[in-house]
Amino acid sequence: MARMLESASRHVKDGMIIGLGSGRTVAALLDTLRRMGSSIGTDLASVRFIPTSLQIKMKAEEMGISIGDESLIPMVDLVFDGADQIDANLVMIKGGGGALLREKVLIHAARKVIILADESKYVDRLTLPIPVEVVPYARVYVSTMLKGMGAEPRIRVNDRGYPIITENGNIIIDSLFNSIDDAHSLEQRLKCIPGVVEVGLFSKVADVYYKAISDGNFEIIYGKG
Ligand code: A5P
Repeated sequence: MARMLESASRHVKDGMIIGLGSGRTVAALLDTLRRMGSSIGTDLASVRFIPTSLQIKMKAEEMGISIGDESLIPMVDLVFDGADQIDANLVMIKGGGGALLREKVLIHAARKVIILADESKYVDRLTLPIPVEVVPYARVYVSTMLKGMGAEPRIRVNDRGYPIITENGNIIIDSLFNSIDDAHSLEQRLKCIPGVVEVGLFSKVADVYYKAISDGNFEIIYGKG
């Protein structure tokens, strides 16, 4: 993982506006950036970072780097993000940390998207439940619709049974499908259900996928171009 993060850090250039996905991998990337400092040839003080959650915002604050707000999203040069699962077509399931809505906004807005994940996240077929962010008012309706589409929906709760509320004030319905054959079409169909705010199925292929291997090495897979 360390070598992968060092290589990814070299994409950061002076004056960039960089979107940060959420999770442990992006947090570890920030640690790497701090550790590598000027050896990457970039003045980090000239870079502005746009976080997707309080988790990664607090991490960025701890490092004392410059944090920008959502008004900069149309100008984002580069996004670093993790993933929960990545299939053979490079379609991802994301949202294990609940930040799927903001991550999807940044991934669609950015000029370049770099995904960082260890080899355990790479699979032939997606098998995890798809996180679906839903307005609380529509929870029963959306659950019923999801069942009608063949899914097994479960409202995400914490370890004491309370529903998890996202930073956008919504709930998450983790929806297990038997199989996902056409990810793009499924993503669109889920998004069309009234009450669904966003879907943790990411059929838009990123530019670069880093894969950390357990022996300490890494591979780079180019999604586009
Ligand atoms: C956040 O909601 C997720 O989409 C994360 O990007 C994903 O869960 C990866 O997290 P880790 O880097 O912690 O595995």
